[in-house]
Amino acid sequence: MNPDLDRLQPYPFQKLTELLKGHNPPRASKPINLSIGEPKHPTPEFIQRALAENLDGLAGYPATAGTEALRNAIAQWLQRRFELPAVDPLKQVLPVNGSREALFAFAQAVVDATRPAVVVMPNPFYQIYEGAALLAGAQPEFVNAQPANGFVFDPDQVPGSVWPRVQMLYVCSPANPTGNVLRLEQWRRLFELSDRYDFVIASDECYSEIYFDEARPPLSALQAAQALGRDGFPRLVCFGSLSKRSNVPGMRSGYVAGDAPILARFLLYRTYHGSAMSLPVQSASVAAWGDEAHVIDNRRLYREKFARVLEVLQPVIDVKMPEASFYLWLPTPVSDTEFARGLHANYNVTVLPGSYLAREARGVNPGRNFVRVALVPALEDCLEGAQRIRAHYLSLTQQRSAAG
Ligand SMILES: Cc1ncc(COP(=O)(O)O)c(C=O)c1O
Repeated sequence: MNPDLDRLQPYPFQKLTELLKGHNPPRASKPINLSIGEPKHPTPEFIQRALAENLDGLAGYPATAGTEALRNAIAQWLQRRFELPAVDPLKQVLPVNGSREALFAFAQAVVDATRPAVVVMPNPFYQIYEGAALLAGAQPEFVNAQPANGFVFDPDQVPGSVWPRVQMLYVCSPANPTGNVLRLEQWRRLFELSDRYDFVIASDECYSEIYFDEARPPLSALQAAQALGRDGFPRLVCFGSLSKRSNVPGMRSGYVAGDAPILARFLLYRTYHGSAMSLPVQSASVAAWGDEAHVIDNRRLYREKFARVLEVLQPVIDVKMPEASFYLWLPTPVSDTEFARGLHANYNVTVLPGSYLAREARGVNPGRNFVRVALVPALEDCLEGAQRIRAHYLSLTQQRSAAG
């Protein structure tokens, strides 16, 4: 079999299961799982109805390019949301079965493994980027997000000698797990590098609709390109999703949008890969992209959770409100794995050690001494989880000061 399969790392949740094995939490307390980034707010009824009302679509094979209705709905949403003058639904947009498969498949279509290939990616990261690069025959090159630089994605960490081999760059904004959002100036720098070294930017924007200030939505790479006069979005493809925006992670629906010649080649790849979206899902997606009221309501729920949870945590832990996304990136007073294991064993709360989301690069694992806390369960559970995290944190710091 393909020997590159052996280069794939266990998924962070496999490592977490190993870490927690044999450390049984107190039976009396309710388990609270804040480790997985799976949205838990209910799917809006009108989306369920649109799916149910279109089940006759199951009788037909869908086209990989998607229906015109869906491509129009996505193009119009992109124009409205990112203030773009025009997005061509036939050339600049493609539906995908969730951004995950598309992020993976994209590297298979872009990377030319007959030449030395490097794929740049953030660290910590969404592990699909690494697996996609490895299976495409490329070498991952990590860009560390660290507190000292405000968790900003800083491509200038990549040594000058590496850039000529870079064929593709993943960037995640808003970032999972840090919530960092790239600014126009940072996009300008990425575009400059992409022009100079002729690589493709894959911009993962699946958290773009989970933000807290209705007046300041996160910038998309498409918007940044437009603002910088980059007509046609050269060498840029953005990935968006309904999963978090509309609470439909099980529907598997998202889009890619950007550079038309690249998307034409990606469509060719996808036709062979066989990743067409089921017609009922396409109809439900048209309904979802056409409505903003449920998205505003969704953000209200997250805003409330973050405000209430941070009221509990911030008096004792130096944890920041993220700019966007539904994660807290929480610093730990002991190693992240020890923190997560103790929190589970003593308080029945599960969080994800940051080091499992990152790799050692330039002498550090930038996820070390952080845990990722996903504020996805109901408000009461998030609050109860926060109280227990606070108690665990205080007990660890007290133990430390008693010992020291
Ligand atoms: C950073 C990031 N990108 C992409 C995805 C994939 O989302 P989906 O395939 O549901 O669109 C996730 C899911 O958790 C994610 O965290």
